[in-house]
Amino acid sequence: MPVTYQSGFGNHFSTEALPGALPIGQNSPQRAPFGLYAEQLSGTAFTVPRHEARRSWLYRLRPSAAHGRFQRSVAQLTGAELGGPTPNRLRWNPLPLPEAPTDFLAGLERIVATAEGDQAEGVSLYRYAANASMTGVFYDADGELLIVPEWGRLDLLTELGLLRIEPLEIAVIPRGMKFRVELVEGEAVRGYVCENHGRSLRLPELGPIGSNGLANPRDFQSPVARFEEVTAPTRLVQKFLGELWETELDHSPLDVVAWHGNHVPYKYDLRRFNTLGTVSFDHPDPSIFTVLTAPGAIEGMANIDFVIFPPRWMVAENTFRPPWFHRNLMNEFMGLIQGAYDAKADGFAPGGASLHGCMSAHGPDHVSTQNAIAADLQPHKIENTMAFMFETGRVLRPTRHALASPLLQPDYDACWAGLAKTFVAPNAGEPA
Ligand SMILES: [Fe+2]
Repeated sequence: MPVTYQSGFGNHFSTEALPGALPIGQNSPQRAPFGLYAEQLSGTAFTVPRHEARRSWLYRLRPSAAHGRFQRSVAQLTGAELGGPTPNRLRWNPLPLPEAPTDFLAGLERIVATAEGDQAEGVSLYRYAANASMTGVFYDADGELLIVPEWGRLDLLTELGLLRIEPLEIAVIPRGMKFRVELVEGEAVRGYVCENHGRSLRLPELGPIGSNGLANPRDFQSPVARFEEVTAPTRLVQKFLGELWETELDHSPLDVVAWHGNHVPYKYDLRRFNTLGTVSFDHPDPSIFTVLTAPGAIEGMANIDFVIFPPRWMVAENTFRPPWFHRNLMNEFMGLIQGAYDAKADGFAPGGASLHGCMSAHGPDHVSTQNAIAADLQPHKIENTMAFMFETGRVLRPTRHALASPLLQPDYDACWAGLAKTFVAPNAGEPA
């Protein structure tokens, strides 16, 4: 089944699944075309600056207001409770693919978060593993969702249309948008999710880089209108202040025939990222690899940056080429989509995850360090790799579930244990 998209980032798109379904020149006519209902979905307050405003107008078979009372779900998200904060460096092995039937929502596990559910900023970070399509529909009132597949393809059937993503692609579902996750041809799936509770993700400023480079706006793809005309019991689940609530509809809520606006889901192929770097010596800070960013309260200090480490040429002369040893203000959660990461020789597998919190010291492991110091520095291309980082200015706290998980590696610190002192004083061996 070919999937059709419209291109651009931040656009005010217009699309209709039936010609003539979209009102022209006004948003809410007395009688919308074909007996459709007009409904506005706002992702920002009405009075934010124009460049921040996100909203879409939806023309649908039934208004979303036609639903019964939500009841708190019996099954809640895994990892709902945070554990105590820890300054320690942590690393988890990949999630095993489930054996019992598990859909995307049931297979989500929150690993770390900046706060409990009640938050207007910050992030919650998850992994997922699933082997079944959702039968119901979900929306997240707590934030937008950045989905990063590591294994298997996903069909994201949203109110605004269909996005199909595979590993090395990402998708963003805006806050409040209803969607259902289906597997493609029954393949099991695994990956990561960043739930952004703060201001929306957007492209980073380019500064001296100029008008091109990194993720280019035209490579982002949003769906065209597509609707289901289904009258059948449908479970609708929402996440609200960290908890799941549900109600049963008598129809599919994915019934939007036409829409226009900029509060939209989108996908992006990470292979289209125009990677920039040094052509002399040293290398820039990893912010040079930012795909998307969401601002925090302090200028330049992101609520969340999504940063990738893609295949790229390494040409720096007289340079320690892996990511250097560092201690940062920002909190770093890393994952691996494909291949190996150039700062870790082993222990960090695709589907794995690591946490380096505020001011925790880290960098390449012992083996990677030794190799980098000894390397003959010829131009070299790092191939078959795609690591990524969710980086936030707010401290990430592991969930109780993640701290108790058998997937948590017992001695991550040991990977730096071989870094012995190699210092030799310039007058070593001479009499004092
Ligand atoms: Fe780091």
